[in-house]
Amino acid sequence: MTKNLTPVTVVGLGDMGRALAAAFLDAGHPTTVWNRTPHRADDLVRRGATRAATAADAVRASRVVVVCLLDYPTVREVLAPAGGELAGRTVVNLTNGTPAQAAEAGDWVRGLGADYLDGGIMAIPPMIGQPGALILYSGSKGAYEAERELLERLGGSRFLGTDPGAAALHDLALLAGMYGLFGGFLHAVAMVDGPARGFTDELLVPWLTAMTGVLPELADQIDAGKYTAQSANLAMQAVSLANITTATVDRGVDPALLAPLRALADRRVSEGSGGDDISTLVEGLRVGAR
Ligand SMILES: NC(=O)c1ccc[n+]([C@@H]2O[C@H](COP(=O)([O-])OP(=O)(O)OC[C@H]3O[C@@H](n4cnc5c(N)ncnc54)[C@H](OP(=O)(O)O)[C@@H]3O)[C@@H](O)[C@H]2O)c1
Repeated sequence: MTKNLTPVTVVGLGDMGRALAAAFLDAGHPTTVWNRTPHRADDLVRRGATRAATAADAVRASRVVVVCLLDYPTVREVLAPAGGELAGRTVVNLTNGTPAQAAEAGDWVRGLGADYLDGGIMAIPPMIGQPGALILYSGSKGAYEAERELLERLGGSRFLGTDPGAAALHDLALLAGMYGLFGGFLHAVAMVDGPARGFTDELLVPWLTAMTGVLPELADQIDAGKYTAQSANLAMQAVSLANITTATVDRGVDPALLAPLRALADRRVSEGSGGDDISTLVEGLRVGAR
């Protein structure tokens, strides 16, 4: 029944690698797995995966080799002994890293005669194989198109172009947005009395949800390079940021997460941008942007 499905190898069975391998198994793909610490494959093997004794054996087992390790130096360390086996295969590297690391990995893998697709996983392990999971890809378009059905066993996919670093760049930009949100959440719950849960459910989530509606308008201002405030000027917001800081300190809470944003707003106001919207701060961030 599974004989027509693409065989796949998963190298790296941490929390994410195990979820990836499980999704391939659930879809019926013949799945070979390898991990430095072999026992992490036990459950997968019970569910039908084949355990490879070495990374080179794992690479030999399938045309498509999905790699999900801690970082790019580990990818190189693990795949180097299997380098001679890579020719003619497709390496799909779902390890988190920088665009420069992705470009370097792409050069190295292509130099060994394999196709290279880099990926950024916008999901946590329980989401893998579910409709909410999204994986960003970049690099070999041919490999993406050829293996799309297999890759979409993991969740939705989006191809961002042939620059291998594009997926990593967008992955990290999205994570930057997420950490900004988490930073705001942590600051807010540190300030208030009472259970964080009630405050979060009743007030914070509805407020932040409403505020995400403003982002497309701010993005339009950034695209146009025209920041004139429509309804909330920066000089007014700088006063709010000062008030937040004072109230935070008064309550014995460290304003460290907010301080850089306040400093940037104050600087832009002092430079004459007080009549702009908060979108104008992007000009202060893009120092030496490429
Ligand atoms: N978990 C998430 O929510 C999530 C979400 C999106 C993206 N990611 C990305 O997915 C990748 C894996 O994350 P994870 O959550 O699976 O991490 P993890 O649970 O810490 O697993 C790390 C993996 O790397 C292996 N490893 C580490 N150092 C090694 C070495 N020197 N030689 C060989 N293998 C080594 C580990 O092998 P051992 O088992 O032998 O230690 C394990 O397979 C990361 O790049 C992460 O950023 C994770």
